[in-house]
Amino acid sequence: MYLVALYTIFMFTLPELPYDYDALAPFISADIQHLHHSAHHAAYVKNLNTALEKYPEWKDKSIEEIITSLDKLPSDIKTTVRNNGGGHYNHSMFWEMMAPHNGQAPSGTLLDKMQHSFGDVKTFQDQFSQAAVKIFGSGWQWLVFDKGEVSMMSTPNQDSPFSQGKIPLLGLDVWEHAYYLQYYNKRPDYVTAWWNIVNWDDVAKRLDSAIKT
Ligand SMILES: [Fe+2]
Repeated sequence: MYLVALYTIFMFTLPELPYDYDALAPFISADIQHLHHSAHHAAYVKNLNTALEKYPEWKDKSIEEIITSLDKLPSDIKTTVRNNGGGHYNHSMFWEMMAPHNGQAPSGTLLDKMQHSFGDVKTFQDQFSQAAVKIFGSGWQWLVFDKGEVSMMSTPNQDSPFSQGKIPLLGLDVWEHAYYLQYYNKRPDYVTAWWNIVNWDDVAKRLDSAIKT
């Protein structure tokens, strides 16, 4: 029993959503949220734990430590951990980067940084949306903090900007599982709708934290 309890401590777990499954509707349906969280994210967590099971020295590391040390992983689990560890890390943030629609908008230091890098929020959103729509296949579009400024980047699959030394502030999941049930093949419609539920307070907190580190 003791060993089981100890093992459990080091397991990654599926975080609770900070809102109900239907809280982001009509922009993202409850069906998508339910499947995305309870099936897709849950699978990343399960697969990550399974891969790390036989390597105790990796099991007690944080997910941040793991995804910034991918090249040091044992070769037989490297790809699995990259995909599923990244999936767990990205989705854990994704849920927090969204919130029920309440007219939220960037402000303060975040707004200043965005204006400095992109001119204005509308230009940023247009460029971000275009890049998100253009991602071929599955991936993520990001606003990141890097070298004192905010910038945009895309990653394929479940790769994280954090693995490349850039701090993710806002991420948009453009895997089909994130939108197909509601938007079918119309990714641009999903991207347009998603802006209504961006949690700018969360983005601002991530920026403040990034600036301090
Ligand atoms: Fe996803």
